[in-house]
Amino acid sequence: MKLCVVGAGHVGLVSGACFAELGHRVVCVDNDARRIAALKRGVMPFYEPDLSALVRRHARRKALTFTTDLRVGVRHGEAIFIAVGTPPKPNGEADLTAVEHVCRDIARAMTSYRLIVEKSTVPVETGKWLRRTIARNLKRPVPFDVASNPEFLREGTAVRDFLHPDRLVLGVESPQARRLLLEVYQPLRVPRVVTDIASAELIKHASNSFLAMKISFINAVAQVCDRVGADVGKVAEGMGLDPRIGKAFLAAGAGFGGFCFPKDIEAFAAIAEKLGVDFRLLKEVARINAQQRAVVVKKIEDRLWNLKHKTIGVWGLSFKPHTDDMRFAPAIDVIQRLTAAGATVKAYDPQAMREAKQCLNGTTLCRTMYDAVAGSDCLVLMTEWPQFQAADWRRVKRLMAHPIIVDGRNCLDPEQLRREGFEYAGIGRG
Ligand code: UDX
Repeated sequence: MKLCVVGAGHVGLVSGACFAELGHRVVCVDNDARRIAALKRGVMPFYEPDLSALVRRHARRKALTFTTDLRVGVRHGEAIFIAVGTPPKPNGEADLTAVEHVCRDIARAMTSYRLIVEKSTVPVETGKWLRRTIARNLKRPVPFDVASNPEFLREGTAVRDFLHPDRLVLGVESPQARRLLLEVYQPLRVPRVVTDIASAELIKHASNSFLAMKISFINAVAQVCDRVGADVGKVAEGMGLDPRIGKAFLAAGAGFGGFCFPKDIEAFAAIAEKLGVDFRLLKEVARINAQQRAVVVKKIEDRLWNLKHKTIGVWGLSFKPHTDDMRFAPAIDVIQRLTAAGATVKAYDPQAMREAKQCLNGTTLCRTMYDAVAGSDCLVLMTEWPQFQAADWRRVKRLMAHPIIVDGRNCLDPEQLRREGFEYAGIGRG
């Protein structure tokens, strides 16, 4: 099929490349000329495992092309997927300006039937606005459909998640839209939930909020564990064996970050409020998550007495491993709190050093993980990159001023570290 994807960000670029992998011919549009020029040279705008190879392979065979001209994409694609950014406004609502502009421009360029599909995470009822905006901006009467096809991609495993999803959610309101979307995903043998647009939009919101809720729930349990000397890892294991609960997303730690959970929770809370629904649980999930960063700082303070004039080594800056994304990363908040309290921070991340330069003023960014611990009074682990777990602990101990570790991701072995002579503190590990 001929498809168009608008937006070459995380969702758009992964979707475009994976649609080409499924056998479609894809035009990927973005208004960032530098990004498009770089993509034409095979240079990715961000780090995502497996993406670069996929993009280059399909670009070479012309199954995936890039342009800044939306009209080219609209002419080409029978189905047009909108995957532009929906950043949060100060009040938590999603800012849909980019979606609206794209919609208007698609309408102006349409000369025959098109299916316009929302793929960005958008508030429920955006589908209605898409339909209205397109109808208002058409230059002549042209038939069209809108649909919702939310993505569930995780950064770091986005390509695999796209090609091997758990389910496909297709929100459609006409037989033609349904047929087209089923055809797009025909090669994927997974359960399909075909429903109306509002329900599809809500599946995305509810799924992300539910996962975030699991994380905040276990983090609150971890705080209780710390007070009674229980082990949150064992509590989560015991809970997770109940299939009604499940073991995923019960890893306690410094809390969730990234561009999805924090903004989706806020946006869902804002929608609920607007609709007059008392859904305070969502706000509580966000509150516990924010508190979790303070918990990490408190643990450091408890071990060092005062933070002023202390040197803290931080391992891990990205919001999770296998990405260079630092948006809403817990490490930023923790480092800012440490710096505000008078500590000096030396940080290292295997991928996010370029991003860190933009958002961490006053932090020493080190070339290696060992540089970050040299002379440190405490080491804080904020992202569970595998290389940190495989560290040479003797070397770390020799380099540190004091062998104290706060493990913000519960990914290190406390027994091993204590044997090596470290003072170890995890989150809810007694
Ligand atoms: C998430 C959703 O998983 C995905 O379906 C959606 O499309 C986009 O948002 P992503 O933000 O890439 O994906 O990361 P994810 O792997 O879900 O982790 C989110 C955050 O939660 C990370 O900061 C991670 O460290 C944290 N987390 C996750 C925990 O603290 N504990 C857990 O048990 C799981």
